[in-house]
Amino acid sequence: MEQPTAIEPGAGVRSEVCDSLRMAPEIMLDLARKAAELIVERIEQLPEENAWEGEFRQELIDQLAEAPPEEGRPPEEVIEQAARDILPVAARNDHPRFFGFIPSSPTWPGVLADFMAAGHQVNQCTWLTSSGPSQLELVVIDWIRRWLGYPESAGGLLTSGGSAASLDAFVAAREAAGDPDRATVYMSDQSHSAQVRAARIIGVRAECIRKVACDGRYRLDMEALARTVAVDRASGFNPIAVCANAGAGSTGAIDPLEEMANYCEAEGIWLHVDAAYGGFAAVTERGKELLRGIERADSIVVDAHKWFFQPYEAGCLLVKDVETLKNAFAIPHDMLQDTIWGANHPNFSDRGLQLSRSVRALKIWMSVQTFGMAAFRRAVSKGMELAARAEEYVRKNPIMEILNPASLGIVCFRINPASADLDEEVLEEINRNVLARVFWEERAFMSSTRLGGRFSLRLCIVNHATTWDDVRETLEAAGQFGEEALSKGK
Ligand SMILES: Cc1ncc(COP(=O)(O)O)c(C=O)c1O
Repeated sequence: MEQPTAIEPGAGVRSEVCDSLRMAPEIMLDLARKAAELIVERIEQLPEENAWEGEFRQELIDQLAEAPPEEGRPPEEVIEQAARDILPVAARNDHPRFFGFIPSSPTWPGVLADFMAAGHQVNQCTWLTSSGPSQLELVVIDWIRRWLGYPESAGGLLTSGGSAASLDAFVAAREAAGDPDRATVYMSDQSHSAQVRAARIIGVRAECIRKVACDGRYRLDMEALARTVAVDRASGFNPIAVCANAGAGSTGAIDPLEEMANYCEAEGIWLHVDAAYGGFAAVTERGKELLRGIERADSIVVDAHKWFFQPYEAGCLLVKDVETLKNAFAIPHDMLQDTIWGANHPNFSDRGLQLSRSVRALKIWMSVQTFGMAAFRRAVSKGMELAARAEEYVRKNPIMEILNPASLGIVCFRINPASADLDEEVLEEINRNVLARVFWEERAFMSSTRLGGRFSLRLCIVNHATTWDDVRETLEAAGQFGEEALSKGK
């Protein structure tokens, strides 16, 4: 029988009936090079571009909405369209002037690791299916354990991100507490919505998610926590976890970790630390000092896709006693009976919610192997140093006010001349105007938050490529827009 030949126009696509989705090796290499060239070109041009790009829905529907094509088209064309018309229409989280939310700037070895992991299509759910990558995950988890000062009994897994990691942690906490009725969790009023969502998903009722007040620096107030727990216990609520922030999203605030550990130990409550943003500060001496006490938590979440310069998705959950994860998640299944290798050969699917998993450890490992820890330490330190300089700049500027001092890499401030006596409504209008003008007129991207009801501008500086000029020029622009808004009366 005559073999069907390659169909046009998908040149290079092997269209034999037996494998209609395979490509010839030389075409695969050409396409990989093409994709890599487009990404490198993007990275090179990024500093000159805007930190944000976006489009309204209708425009994008007009460009992209279509039925899936029955026949393929030239793959170079498909790659070009993705690289030129789709992926750039987004916030550039890795832009040196992207200071909004929590930015993320991956290393090139990290990017390549995701590509390589996809190319090997390892399913890292069990030892049987992925012994090499599983061992690598154990190595990387052990690095993170050491950075955080956790004991050797600790262990965990890499997850899609902080949200998924906290979800797993709350399941472990609930099971460790004996799965009580009216399970209740405690967190500060600065805790991330991801904590609330994780609690909700595991079935904690809305009235059992307790928000505890903070002190003047947005750190959880210990007395308020103790009071709330005591009243709750007397009313039949069962605390299953207290959540601490080690780098709250709005301000970078670090809750009193040592005191919380003392309290939770005395009360027999699981202490969970959301260090999704701030945890990797622990690789520096200063960060280790700031995070002292974190090593006493029952569970810790860190995100390597935030301050450890990895592509999404790279979250991590560590628990003080890895058995608590297995108790919560190891569920036997006949179909998977062949995957049990026994002691010391962990199946990562026994530690969290995912069965099929990608090889997330590879990006962290390849990045660290390539650059070395000294480079990572310098990059993390730089964020803290630039945030401190930004605070200094704000304090010296007569029309600016610090709303919370630099904490880790975050500074919260606003336009508010000390000499003027402006009410909150006017200040909010002025600062919204400044935020909007930075957004539309500058290359930079800032975001805002609310602190004690006040509208606050906010810079989060955690990009290894950001320079003081990037920060200073953004602050200068905010100052200039602030002057103009003040002179116009808004
Ligand atoms: C403090 C904090 N916790 C949790 C999360 C959620 O993490 P993820 O987005 O990786 O799920 C974030 C995300 O920005 C965060 O900043």
